[in-house]
Amino acid sequence: MTEAPSRFGEPWYPLETKRLILRGYRPEDFEDIHAYAADPQVTRLVPWGPNPPEATQAFLAQMIEEQTRWPPPECTLGLEVKAGGRLIGRISLRIQDPGNRTADLGYVLHREYWGQGYMTEAARAMLKVAFEVLGLHRVWATCDVRNTGSWRVMEKLGMRREATCLRDVLQKGEWRTSYRYAILEDEWAALHCYSGTECRQSR
Ligand SMILES: CC(C)(COP(=O)(O)OP(=O)(O)OC[C@H]1O[C@@H](n2cnc3c(N)ncnc32)[C@H](O)[C@@H]1OP(=O)(O)O)[C@@H](O)C(=O)NCCC(=O)NCCS
Repeated sequence: MTEAPSRFGEPWYPLETKRLILRGYRPEDFEDIHAYAADPQVTRLVPWGPNPPEATQAFLAQMIEEQTRWPPPECTLGLEVKAGGRLIGRISLRIQDPGNRTADLGYVLHREYWGQGYMTEAARAMLKVAFEVLGLHRVWATCDVRNTGSWRVMEKLGMRREATCLRDVLQKGEWRTSYRYAILEDEWAALHCYSGTECRQSR
């Protein structure tokens, strides 16, 4: 399994939650990834997809290549469900503004697994790493205002809605309006009784 070092030089993934393993990619993951990436209902409210096989293959090749470099500008992990070992989605933490210790979060899940708390579980583990291992100051996320499942995940994580951005993303030929959410390190600490000197297990 691929491992990546934290700012302290130790590997910080794979991560384990109650039902999931968040891990690096392997060439044999293609079928599982393509099963959700080619689904028009999954990609309806995001700027990419539905994927032809070549797009999924290019994504997988890019992820495997990026895993060989450290530190990566963004870290995308596959979500493997412990029961059965299927890769059912992905989550990304993109540190595009290291000077301000700011990253954004993105995610997608196979439709069969929606509404069962999987993405909240995965995203909570990722935020824990962002604040408690990588020492980030701020994590933000954005979604189409119609994407209730996505902004509900953000709210369940304790993120605050900071803005409604009118027609800010050109998505499948139309300008979409987006919500933007964020959470700061002290807000995370208050939610999780985190002192800044300890690493606690994901809930
Ligand atoms: C967004 C997405 C990742 C959510 O994953 P998930 O595992 O279903 O999320 P969770 O189960 O942790 O939480 C979803 C919450 O939204 C709620 N929800 C989902 N769809 C809803 C809808 N249409 N109306 C009202 N609530 C809805 C769920 O009930 C749940 O809230 P609850 O726990 O209070 O009941 C998943 O739906 C997905 O992959 N969608 C397609 C890709 C996508 O939109 N990615 C995000 C791009 S910004």
